[in-house]
Amino acid sequence: MKTVITFGTFDVFHVGHVNILQRASALGDRLVVGVSSDALNFSKKGRNPIYCEADRLKIISVLSFVDDVFIEESLEKKLQYIQEHKADVLVMGDDWQDKFDHLKPHCGVVYLPRTPSISTTEIIEVVRQKS
Ligand code: CTP
Repeated sequence: MKTVITFGTFDVFHVGHVNILQRASALGDRLVVGVSSDALNFSKKGRNPIYCEADRLKIISVLSFVDDVFIEESLEKKLQYIQEHKADVLVMGDDWQDKFDHLKPHCGVVYLPRTPSISTTEIIEVVRQKS
């Protein structure tokens, strides 16, 4: 049983999120997703996500290719989460290229290419401009 783990905010869920989760799940038998907490997002981006953590967690949890979800409270706890969930492979988008190589002694680390031309930030910007 090969467990894959990935992390993200997954706010204003879009096809780039679907693509990375689908490709991550194809790398193993079981996909676990850490969904960043509202507080963690606020500390990173200086704003709250559009969808609260409970809703973002619920959306990810119902995807057919996701087996387990949890709230990621801290970026510093990646190794702890990997060990708790017995993950064999960490998958991240290539916006994080090389950033998690220090975890390679503990698990496989795979960076997948991002889906071009879509992001939560861009969607929020487009909606703002139209309103
Ligand atoms: N992702 C992707 N392709 C995109 C957008 C996101 O593969 N076009 C991946 C990211 O690399 C990450 C995961 O989806 O592994 C969650 O990313 P997240 O930061 O929540 O999504 P973004 O749309 O990038 O959000 P933002 O614009 O707020 O950074």
